[in-house]
Amino acid sequence: MKVMILGGDGYLGWPTSMHFAAQGHEVLALDNYLRRKICFDTDSNPLVTRPTMPERSILFEEVSGKKIETEAVDLCDYRKFESIFKDFMPDVMIHYAEQPSAPYSMRGYEEARLTLQNNLDVTFNAIWAVKEHNPNCHIVKLGTMGEYGTPNIDIEEGWIDIEHKGRSDKFLFPRQAGSLYHTTKVLDTDLIWFYVRTYGLKVTDLMQGPVYGVATEETASNDQLESFFNYDDIFGTVVNRFIVQAVHGVPLTVYGKGGQTRGYLDIRDTLQCVYLAAMNEPDAGTLNIFNQFVETFSVNQLAEHVQKVSKSLGLDVEIKSVPNPRKEMEDHHYNPAHSGLLELGLKPHYLTDDVMASMIESVLRYKDQIVTRRIMPRVSWK
Ligand SMILES: NC(=O)c1ccc[n+]([C@@H]2O[C@H](COP(=O)([O-])OP(=O)(O)OC[C@H]3O[C@@H](n4cnc5c(N)ncnc54)[C@H](O)[C@@H]3O)[C@@H](O)[C@H]2O)c1
Repeated sequence: MKVMILGGDGYLGWPTSMHFAAQGHEVLALDNYLRRKICFDTDSNPLVTRPTMPERSILFEEVSGKKIETEAVDLCDYRKFESIFKDFMPDVMIHYAEQPSAPYSMRGYEEARLTLQNNLDVTFNAIWAVKEHNPNCHIVKLGTMGEYGTPNIDIEEGWIDIEHKGRSDKFLFPRQAGSLYHTTKVLDTDLIWFYVRTYGLKVTDLMQGPVYGVATEETASNDQLESFFNYDDIFGTVVNRFIVQAVHGVPLTVYGKGGQTRGYLDIRDTLQCVYLAAMNEPDAGTLNIFNQFVETFSVNQLAEHVQKVSKSLGLDVEIKSVPNPRKEMEDHHYNPAHSGLLELGLKPHYLTDDVMASMIESVLRYKDQIVTRRIMPRVSWK
């Protein structure tokens, strides 16, 4: 297949590019380095600097013999996007190219505006390129479990049947996001559903939980090919942050009561899920939605897991509650469905003690590069 990856330099985009290329697909990775720029501008650089897309592509070809074409382009520029699309004519477009940091989107007006415009513009342009030039192209779009928020009912997989005054219909499951970034993903979903039902496009929307890990099958022979590892408050997700705090010898920063529960997955499972989604295209005019995570944890459970495994590696780790910079429920019901990807063949990797230990050991190698001022939250919702 010809696979176009929007956001191909990103945390998930680069590993996905390698994964599809390794399976023999023709891959074109597109990115404007927005993530690297925001990391630099907000003093949130990853623990280890990673090569640029063309440099990574050369390294990957050396170890695999497979080519990944790359191009630096701002996908908000429709004329450029359209021209690249027409030249490549993808069978599948995997859309990762958004500003994905919730704290960044809540930092101030400029950051909020960039997030809103960038995310909706890229989604809109992706839809239009497909609609105008190859409606047969399957769009695999990354959404987030954060679109649903934490309602006091079980979360269904994308859709819900509602009975009202003796009649019934099927609707998108209600969405109520907790940050502007997550709200842009809700708006993406509405935009996509409108174009799917009106113009017969084929889209799979993956509601993903927070991902952890940087190593995949394709990085085994060269760790320069591994993805970004951020531990700051802007791009770092909770598992990475706790691991770095454990290694650095500072208390783990549990926000508030620590009962916030989410569905998590290993980066190797993101690759499996996206691959399975790409291989199972919906019929024209169908929007398939899958909840993409493998197990749920509360923040307290994650902190205790990091503490326990760190102890077995000789690290003494303290857990401390800090004031929650976000506006979110700290104690809530959480029971989301997630059977769709398992039915397609997903074989989950779980967050075992061994997986946790290998992530802690890999951070220990770069212990001296941890920057203390990136650890505490710098952005507040209030
Ligand atoms: N990482 C997670 O835990 C997670 C969880 C749920 C959902 N997601 C979603 O998955 C997708 C990828 O996430 P990620 O963690 O890899 O983020 P990322 O920021 O590392 O990757 C996104 C990439 O898109 C690029 N990009 C953004 N705007 C662009 C534009 N206008 N033109 C060209 N390139 C552009 C960025 O430079 C970046 O490299 C996002 O849509 C995110 O919302 C991620």
